[in-house]
Amino acid sequence: MPAVVLVGAQWGDEGKGKATDLLGGEVDYVVRYQGGNNAGHTVVIGDQKYALHLLPTGVLSPEVVPVIGNGVVIDPGVLLAEIDGLLERGISCDRLLISANAHLIMPHHKALDKVTERYLGKARIGTTGRGIGPAYGDKIARMGVRVQDLLDPGILGQKIDVALNEKNQVLTKVYNRRGIDPAKVLEEYLGYAERLKPHIADTSLILNQALDEGKVVLLEGGQGNLLDIDHGTYPFVTSSSPTSGGACIGSGIPPTRLTRVIGILKAYTTRVGSGPFPTELTDEMGDWLRTTGGEYGVTTGRNRRCGWFDAIIARYATRVNGVTDFFLTKLDVLSGLERIPVCVAYDVDGERHEEIPMTQTGFHHAKPIYEEFPGWEEDITEAKSFEDLPKNAQDYVRTLEELSGARISAIGVGPGRDQTLSLRPLI
Ligand code: IMP
Repeated sequence: MPAVVLVGAQWGDEGKGKATDLLGGEVDYVVRYQGGNNAGHTVVIGDQKYALHLLPTGVLSPEVVPVIGNGVVIDPGVLLAEIDGLLERGISCDRLLISANAHLIMPHHKALDKVTERYLGKARIGTTGRGIGPAYGDKIARMGVRVQDLLDPGILGQKIDVALNEKNQVLTKVYNRRGIDPAKVLEEYLGYAERLKPHIADTSLILNQALDEGKVVLLEGGQGNLLDIDHGTYPFVTSSSPTSGGACIGSGIPPTRLTRVIGILKAYTTRVGSGPFPTELTDEMGDWLRTTGGEYGVTTGRNRRCGWFDAIIARYATRVNGVTDFFLTKLDVLSGLERIPVCVAYDVDGERHEEIPMTQTGFHHAKPIYEEFPGWEEDITEAKSFEDLPKNAQDYVRTLEELSGARISAIGVGPGRDQTLSLRPLI
């Protein structure tokens, strides 16, 4: 009964889609457990490229049941557009299961996300503007609308009225925006209900029964460790828990059933949006990493901020998530560099730190202390095994493994499905 969690070990965009897709053949269920359409997974199959935001990557493998867990916030219009987009390309989403307990992103969430960011000015978080934070805010404040409410038009109408009673006051009186008409929202969401109904299920029950039967469940997080609402670089984080603990809460699978935690780790570091990033490169080297690595957001198209590998962050991910294996991605991007710096500690106001500083101020002051490792000239995109890598690339991988505190079990050497070196089975 393997239940395997995939978590981003940095600030998201580590290449989780590739890892999930790689495991597709061995997996029966792929579950998204938090986040919403702020995420973006790119999967390349042959000459086809798929960008998924809300649908679990498992949707691309016909033998896998894709599941949207209770911890996700769902924009139903976006979900249906994504389903239709795949259908046009010959991929059916009929098997999709959606938790009845997942929350819905409502029009007022999107309106508030945009307007509150604008009011924050320089202190803005740089959200994706998809309504994620306000939707989770309402969930915690116990005034959210859930997927199961789509099954009861009376309740749905009541919940929309209650929410807009308050939110329209905020939109009009605090932010000077137009209010939202509850009747229009009800009509729109009842339209979504018709199409989503066949997918709504008690997914915690189904997943636990599947584990009882010996099926393999892959739990797929969006974003990454440092965007976690509790363990990330608060307040520059997302509003949910991408960490492995969140996988249990967001799916209804208990911690005692998790068998492995796979951390997805990019061979360098990237971040989108505001917030501290000690190894960020703001010079031509950063531009080079961005262009060579194709570091542009799948969801917003924004330039990703780029920097060297940060071992403190990787070790932190191992600690907080209980990482058992790392999948190291995008090693090929570093080919051609003479020397590769790796951050092994921080200087925080004159003091050496080998762990993440305790306070936000400490992290903002952290300056990277680098050790340099020799690079390699060779193109490694055709490598088929670890032994095919040049010696310096092998040494770089071994160094990252040692510094990160968990074994590296797979290595990505290109975007294609077949450009992965397997060191040991991941399930
Ligand atoms: P939100 O999730 O839209 O509220 O955005 C909060 C922060 O998380 C911002 O810095 C976003 O850029 C970042 N973020 C959200 N989703 C992703 C993702 O999938 N990859 C990378 N950054 C993300």
